[in-house]
Amino acid sequence: SSRLPIISQEEVTRHRSLKDGVWVTYKGGVYDITEFVSMHPGGEKIMMAAGGAIEPFWSLYAVHNQEHVLDILSGYKVGEL
Ligand code: HEM
Repeated sequence: SSRLPIISQEEVTRHRSLKDGVWVTYKGGVYDITEFVSMHPGGEKIMMAAGGAIEPFWSLYAVHNQEHVLDILSGYKVGEL
């Protein structure tokens, strides 16, 4: 992951739809979760985080505080902030 590109917050913000791609950030990492959106167990709520940080939402929905959820996320990493 240390060889992934540096991506600006501005570029992340441009990816907040299925058409343009759905990117999120988590602890300094950037993730392209476009392909995961339709598989999300919590449905379309995932789009609330599109183009920004997922931490505020995961604080509210503690179901994400599990190793297997982070495993899923790590598979979509495309860069670092
Ligand atoms: C459930 C992944 C973002 C709301 C889950 C589960 C996974 C997951 C794997 C199932 C966990 C389990 O039951 O063991 C993700 C990923 C996200 C993301 C990878 C971002 C990249 C969000 C956001 C919200 C959200 C932003 C809310 C704004 C929920 C809810 C559930 C859930 C409500 C529970 C669904 C249920 O069991 O009925 N998510 N999530 N998620 N997620 Fe997310």
